[in-house]
Amino acid sequence: MASLAFLLPGGFIFLSFFFVSADAATKFYQFNIQVNNVSRLCHAKPIVTVNGRFPGPTVYAREGDSVQINVTNHAQYNISIHWHGLKQFRNGWADGPAYITQCPIQSGSSYMYSFNVTGQRGTLWWHAHILWLRATVYGAIVIMPKPGTPYPFPRPASEETLVFGEWWHADVEEVVKQGNSLGLPPNMSDAHTINGKPGPLFPCSEKHTFAMEVEQGKTYLLRIINAALNDELFFAIAGHNLTVVEIDAVYTKPFMTSAILIAPGQTTNVLVHANQMPGRYFMAVRPFIDAPIPIDNKTATSIFQYKGIPNSVLPTLPHLPSPNDTTFALSYNRKLKSLNTPTFPAIVPLKVDRNLFFTVGLGMNPCPSCVNGTRLTASLNNITFVMPEIGLLEAHYFNTKGVFRTDFPDKPPTPFNYTGAPLTANLGTTKGTRLVKLAFNSTVELVIQDTNLLTVESHPFHLHGYNFFVVGTGIGNFDPNKDPAKYNLIDPPERNTVGVPTGGWTAIRFTANNPGVWFFHCHLELHTGWGLKTAFVVENGKQADQTVLPPPKDLPQC
Ligand SMILES: *[C@@H]1O[C@H](CO)[C@@H](O)[C@H](O)[C@H]1NC(C)=O
Ligand SMILES: *[C@@H]1O[C@H](CO)[C@@H](O)[C@H](O)[C@H]1NC(C)=O
Ligand SMILES: *[C@@H]1O[C@H](CO)[C@@H](O)[C@H](O)[C@H]1NC(C)=O
Ligand SMILES: *[C@@H]1O[C@H](CO)[C@@H](O)[C@H](O)[C@H]1NC(C)=O
Ligand SMILES: *[C@@H]1O[C@H](CO)[C@@H](O)[C@H](O)[C@H]1NC(C)=O
Ligand SMILES: *[C@@H]1O[C@H](CO)[C@@H](O)[C@H](O)[C@H]1NC(C)=O
Ligand SMILES: *[C@@H]1O[C@H](CO)[C@@H](O)[C@H](O)[C@H]1NC(C)=O
Ligand SMILES: *[C@@H]1O[C@H](CO)[C@@H](O)[C@H](O)[C@H]1NC(C)=O
Ligand SMILES: *[C@@H]1O[C@H](CO)[C@@H](O)[C@H](O)[C@H]1NC(C)=O
Ligand SMILES: *[C@@H]1O[C@H](CO)[C@@H](O)[C@H](O)[C@H]1NC(C)=O
Ligand SMILES: *[C@@H]1O[C@H](CO)[C@@H](O)[C@H](O)[C@H]1NC(C)=O
Ligand SMILES: *[C@@H]1O[C@H](CO)[C@@H](O)[C@H](O)[C@H]1NC(C)=O
Repeated sequence: MASLAFLLPGGFIFLSFFFVSADAATKFYQFNIQVNNVSRLCHAKPIVTVNGRFPGPTVYAREGDSVQINVTNHAQYNISIHWHGLKQFRNGWADGPAYITQCPIQSGSSYMYSFNVTGQRGTLWWHAHILWLRATVYGAIVIMPKPGTPYPFPRPASEETLVFGEWWHADVEEVVKQGNSLGLPPNMSDAHTINGKPGPLFPCSEKHTFAMEVEQGKTYLLRIINAALNDELFFAIAGHNLTVVEIDAVYTKPFMTSAILIAPGQTTNVLVHANQMPGRYFMAVRPFIDAPIPIDNKTATSIFQYKGIPNSVLPTLPHLPSPNDTTFALSYNRKLKSLNTPTFPAIVPLKVDRNLFFTVGLGMNPCPSCVNGTRLTASLNNITFVMPEIGLLEAHYFNTKGVFRTDFPDKPPTPFNYTGAPLTANLGTTKGTRLVKLAFNSTVELVIQDTNLLTVESHPFHLHGYNFFVVGTGIGNFDPNKDPAKYNLIDPPERNTVGVPTGGWTAIRFTANNPGVWFFHCHLELHTGWGLKTAFVVENGKQADQTVLPPPKDLPQC
């Protein structure tokens, strides 16, 4: 039947009817956004949840499925949900970032996110994409391969999802408001969490400890998600190595490591072999911060518990890299490579149509009412992004003038010694809703360069609507004459979120074949809020199936 399909015009439809639809299904979910009292660290407080669960429900789908999620907002906040890492081909309406692809769902209203899962399988996640509500509104997305398609690694005995987060005693929105009014970073979180639970190293937390039971000799797949707002994290299991097999729902060449590094927005699947003396072993997460900013050294723990071992046995802590271990971080990231097999190829753009170079800058703006008379801010190529008041995708689709401009500069207006001596002087930034326009199907290389404006710091950048290839990275200033020669164009890691190292740069490549408006931003909520973001407007192609789909009838209005 397959060979016949190739002979027919529209063969893809024929193929998908016989080989996909037979197994593909529509998965339906109801998400009620509501407020629930949740207790952690000796306190109870009302938080925004989905269906009263924290973390929220896992969305399960199979590659090829259609997913429909009816989000009904019973909370006092307007809200939107982002399906982080799903490509949403032609379908930005279901992507979720508030004011980028949609107006938020107002209190009392519903919106049906409707999308197809095409050409992706693995671990992704969903989260609120407005204000700091993703502090509590998040959950996993697990996409199984098509029926009959095995994993490209030995089948695990079972699977577990581990979602890392941050917890504040206070109302997170109040914390942010206070930070903004003082012009300073908001208070740090009070705990890190694993599946919503901080573990016994925090007060009153014995009963808030996640544990997974394992049997000696078996191998387990852990689907790990960093849903923290502002912290890159190290993760390790005492006494056990981890084998990395997938990042951001893309298979990797497997490699063994004592710990993983995971930035906010990223996912990592690892295999772990329960090959130690039966006992109780801590799984632990702690931040990685190698910038000259305050170190948050709080460790969340959960338990890797062998069957039959009583809870009275004291677990051992793993050896995590120290919070400032740059060497470990760089060496870990260098080990990440796409699997790049005929079934799972790495289709890296070799020729570049458009070269972009964005500098990441932190800064201070005058603010007479603020603590220091200044307010912290951030910019990309010297532009602090201003959020529009209606969805950019809608403005693009209906050609509404005056909402955004497409004159975001391809390179910084004034070159300088980006990672040289600290630049504390306020260089001044321009504000604006300025986007980058990309021709359909053009190939793009984007170098993201950290700077020493105020301070160097690492920044996990997330691109919506696409995966990209991380072709190169380095410390110091990017050298356009020398660095491209060192690129990996064979099997670079493919992902949707990448860390730009402290005082360094990262080069990514992608083919702009998904029309629409796609957000590009630092996934540290702190920096997103300060303006470290822009968006790409990818034009329609010539063919009917290369254009943005019409908006759904229930698309929320502002
Ligand atoms: C939540 O818990 C706090 C403290 O126990 C209590 O004062 C408050 O009434 C509860 N709120 C709701 C909505 O149940
Ligand atoms: C979504 O849920 C709301 C609240 O239950 C319901 O009124 C609405 O009909 C649902 N929408 C769809 C399309 O199912
Ligand atoms: C999903 O796939 C179905 C079947 O191919 C198609 O009719 C529908 O338009 C697709 N939906 C989206 C949002 O792409
Ligand atoms: C932030 O932390 C300070 C110092 O601990 C505290 O006084 C303040 O109340 C906190 N702010 C919020 C909104 O919780
Ligand atoms: C973990 O890997 C290291 C390096 O390959 C090795 O020395 C060590 O024995 C391994 N530990 C376990 C528990 O497998
Ligand atoms: C972090 O905490 C650990 C354990 O409490 C301690 O050993 C270590 O010195 C701390 N590191 C920093 C940088 O504070
Ligand atoms: C990392 O932190 C430790 C403990 O605070 C300190 O002794 C060490 O000098 C730091 N290393 C680097 C490279 O900054
Ligand atoms: C701003 O104010 C805070 C709090 O008073 C202080 O810790 C910090 O050093 C000040 N920063 C600058 C750059 O003045
Ligand atoms: C940039 O600054 C660094 C550190 O001050 C210095 O070593 C380097 O020579 C400077 N580079 C250029 C091109 O000026
Ligand atoms: C940023 O823009 C402002 C306002 O246009 C300008 O004064 C400043 O020199 C620019 N700074 C840099 C680093 O390009
Ligand atoms: C995109 O461009 C490539 C190379 O120029 C071409 O092979 C491919 O057919 C184009 N794809 C579409 C969807 O136009
Ligand atoms: C929700 O959105 C509506 C329409 O934009 C606006 O009038 C209202 O103030 C918003 N509510 C909140 C709590 O921000």
